[in-house]
Amino acid sequence: MRLNIALLLTSNVVLATSFIINPLGSTIAPTTSQSRGILAAPFSTHLSVLTSGQSDTEVASSSSSTRSPLGIPGTADLEWEGLGFEFRPTKSNLRITYKDGEWGEFELCEDPTINIHMGATALHYGQACFEGLKAFTHPDGTVHVFRPKENAYRLSTSCTRVVMPVLPEATFLNAVNEVVRDNIEYVPPYGSGGALYLRPLLFGSGPRIGLQPADEYTFILMVMPVGDYYKGGLASPVDGLLITDFDRAAPRGVGNVKVAGNYAADMLPNMVSKSKGFPIGLYLDAKTQSMVEEFSTSNFVGIDSKNNKYVTPKSASVLPSITNKSLMTIASDEGMVVEEREVQLDELESFDEVLACGTAVVVTPVGSITLLGDVEDPDDVEASDVKKFVFGDSSEVGPVTRNLYDRVRAIQYGEEEDRYGWNMKIE
Ligand code: PLP
Ligand code: COI
Repeated sequence: MRLNIALLLTSNVVLATSFIINPLGSTIAPTTSQSRGILAAPFSTHLSVLTSGQSDTEVASSSSSTRSPLGIPGTADLEWEGLGFEFRPTKSNLRITYKDGEWGEFELCEDPTINIHMGATALHYGQACFEGLKAFTHPDGTVHVFRPKENAYRLSTSCTRVVMPVLPEATFLNAVNEVVRDNIEYVPPYGSGGALYLRPLLFGSGPRIGLQPADEYTFILMVMPVGDYYKGGLASPVDGLLITDFDRAAPRGVGNVKVAGNYAADMLPNMVSKSKGFPIGLYLDAKTQSMVEEFSTSNFVGIDSKNNKYVTPKSASVLPSITNKSLMTIASDEGMVVEEREVQLDELESFDEVLACGTAVVVTPVGSITLLGDVEDPDDVEASDVKKFVFGDSSEVGPVTRNLYDRVRAIQYGEEEDRYGWNMKIE
């Protein structure tokens, strides 16, 4: 089984690298009603597939001099303050189709709708995965995407797990550059506190009725300006609920990849938690129910200030967060002891601060986590089943959380030197 999957995926990669290249670059073909036209991969002649040691900075530094000038971020007619996190139409989305064993050319489309076969494997069998990353305007007006190579890599792990063809890293990075370039006016201006959220989506669009992988796939890269995921952002710690009657991911399931089904599994517990007054839900490990795993849409981090420790759960069913990886680097550079290990539920008592981290939530302080047990009413604090873990002064942002937030934001917004090479400049 393992060998067959490996062969299948190897052949996908080989075929995918025969991507059609128009060396002249950025010409846009005549438009149709749905599509603004085919865009040949503009940087492909300059860009080789990177090895894992290269920084994101190196990726887009080889732009062609024949390109039209980049527009100005933040010039779309929008209220930039208080954007929130919701779908918003922009100028275009970028699409690439995989057919006959290879990825095709880029297409920039104005239409936000898609027309797919009713037998598409994404719809029936959940052959679908997605990513999330952000672009930021720097003080000098340039626009930079945070760690896109990491998203290209994680997308490839999701594709591999649900037997979809891998999109080559260089194609992914080119697509990111092209779609941000085309939607540059929707990148929130520097100082607004917002970002352009990029949502790559890859799914089986070809039909199957027996259970097997599709032979056609669609990659879509949509973008939209966003602000805070949780109302109030950093200033307002959120209260969490321990989810005890559902599991997010099985030990050897798909929790460590970003496939659509993980979010379907979370939809009901998530809505129930919110209806009880808890904006964020925390999952335990499915096997023993004794270890902390992660929140629905973000990783868990506990701060033990007395021992100067940054503690985050290590588990095969947690999604490897790019934000968490970045915070671990920053924390360790600041002299904190970073521990990525099993975290027992009882250990919640020992944390002075807890934070949720992810692209959408950035760094969100968590003021408390409540274990309701069989108690229905969250206000029934007298009930013996109810246990509430409170972190520091639960209504204030803790100093470590604030510092980690400030440091990662300063790098993303170009206020601090990008010494790790995390920002990819849009050319
Ligand atoms: N965990 C889950 C389940 C997520 O959906 C996300 C969001 O992408 C994260 C963690 C955070 O990952 P990242 O920091 O790469 O956005
Ligand atoms: C992100 O943080 O980019 C995510 O994908 C989380 C999403 C479910 C809101």
